[in-house]
Amino acid sequence: MDFKGMSFFFKMRDFFKDPMKKIEKTDIKKGDHVLDYGCGSGSFTIPAAKLAGSNGKVYAADVHPLSSEKVKKQAEKYQLKNIETIQTDCNTNLKEASIDVILLIDVLHNLENYTENLKEFYRILKAEGSFWVDDHHYEGSQIQEKITENNLFKFSEQVDSLYKFTKLI
Ligand SMILES: C[S@@+](CC[C@H](N)C(=O)[O-])C[C@H]1O[C@@H](n2cnc3c(N)ncnc32)[C@H](O)[C@@H]1O
Repeated sequence: MDFKGMSFFFKMRDFFKDPMKKIEKTDIKKGDHVLDYGCGSGSFTIPAAKLAGSNGKVYAADVHPLSSEKVKKQAEKYQLKNIETIQTDCNTNLKEASIDVILLIDVLHNLENYTENLKEFYRILKAEGSFWVDDHHYEGSQIQEKITENNLFKFSEQVDSLYKFTKLI
């Protein structure tokens, strides 16, 4: 599916299932710095930015050039000034240990070199930060295996379809 087709599909998905309902199950709080990796058209970026508030920040990263355009339009629509877009397939150029929460929603199955992405997430996540993964293409056990196999993260808890990981220090 191309990006526009995907965006339309997600618009339908979000109409029937409010993305905020998923995001409020994570531990994003006011003032947090969040990375929404593989953000697509920003379905989960917007609720994350609302939860992080004006003192927080959401970095919306995606490999596709149309993603940034879409996310910026959404941010304007909801008058959110705390969203910054990043176009990348791995490196974010974010500061080491600067991020409180990483979201990886419906993206893990798309990552061809996920070990490299995990190294980058490890680098930018704060020691006490959380990393939330959701991917309906995998069983929960497969998600846990993929995220923990390199001894960078440990499984912390499951909240519905979301799996929370923390850094192994
Ligand atoms: C199935 S979509 C999910 C979008 C969004 N997270 C959501 O659930 O609405 C997967 C997204 O991951 C992006 N993606 C795939 N590989 C990527 C990579 N290596 N780095 C960054 N983004 C990637 C795609 O461009 C696409 O927007």
